[in-house]
Amino acid sequence: MVNPVYILAIESSCDDTAAAVLKNSAVLSNVIAGQKVHEAFGGVVPELASRAHQQNIVPVVHQALNKAGISLENLNAIAFTKGPGLLGSLLVGMSFAKSLSMALNIPLIEVNHMQAHVLAHFIDDDSKTKPDFPFLALTVSGGHTQIVRVNDFFDMTVIGETTDDAVGEAFDKTAKLLGLPYPGGPMIDRLAQTGNPKAFTFTKPKMDEYKFSFSGIKTGIMNFLNNNKAVNPNFIEENLADICASVQHTLIEILMDKLVLAIHDTGIKNVAIGGGVSANSELRKRIGELEQTLGCKTFIPKFEYTTDNAAMIGIVGYHKFLKSDFTDEFVTSKSRYAL
Ligand code: KG4
Ligand code: ZN
Repeated sequence: MVNPVYILAIESSCDDTAAAVLKNSAVLSNVIAGQKVHEAFGGVVPELASRAHQQNIVPVVHQALNKAGISLENLNAIAFTKGPGLLGSLLVGMSFAKSLSMALNIPLIEVNHMQAHVLAHFIDDDSKTKPDFPFLALTVSGGHTQIVRVNDFFDMTVIGETTDDAVGEAFDKTAKLLGLPYPGGPMIDRLAQTGNPKAFTFTKPKMDEYKFSFSGIKTGIMNFLNNNKAVNPNFIEENLADICASVQHTLIEILMDKLVLAIHDTGIKNVAIGGGVSANSELRKRIGELEQTLGCKTFIPKFEYTTDNAAMIGIVGYHKFLKSDFTDEFVTSKSRYAL
């Protein structure tokens, strides 16, 4: 068996062009180029995203290789995000990965983006222990909200997910209503620090089992803001921190209610979070508290592995490499791609 294994990983599912180099489970470099072009539109414009990926991909890969001190000849495989995500964006990363693997005559590895958010916990990090199987993973991003039962690296089942919007979308859409720039999650998180989470209450949806719904609450927030603005045109400016804290508190409560239910029902006490919203300070705090309240072992990713990155694609690539789970040049991108 090859050891060490050097993997170049590429992630391009949404609006970040990312490349990383891993030496086995250790990250040698992790480069991300964001795309400013979407700011003026208050959300990601798919066609602009694919064009920006085309411009970014070569310099980003170069930078990842340089930072890692690795040349193309050292690579043992190339891993890329097959889906889910924006089709045009995915195609750029996949085509690049495919061409490079053919040119270098090394294996190509397809990676599911949501599986990567879960398995990011297996990246080497001296300050963190890795989860034992089985564990529950709450994966929360701009496109997904899932509770996943993880039995093994490649044996995972979604036991609950959203029936409409993702929680990240609820953050982003609320931010838009408040006149804050995209993506709104980090901004709401920051403003919420000085606000009162109990200042305003929003009705939580009643959903069966571990299902989530975030579209009703989005409408509720919109009506709440419109009604208050009709009485006081400066309502948002005068109450911004309290609104952010209250919305954030409600969204995190919705996540925690279902997660706690899943912990009780499955008896699984190893609990991990992943995806962009796992950067949220209130969610991180509430997850940490499960250690005391329910005797859980909790796994909270480092900030750089919460939002989209290629290191998480690389760790999945490494574990697939160990199983010789390779793909061929006929592979295609998938905008919808189940776990
Ligand atoms: O995983 P990710 O980078 O991309 C997708 O796969 O969707 O997640 C992006 C989402 C956005 O909705 C963004 O607003 C949210 O993660 N996000 C946050 C925070 N940081 C990023 N939401 C709440 N609090 C944060 N600190
Ligand atoms: Zn993601």
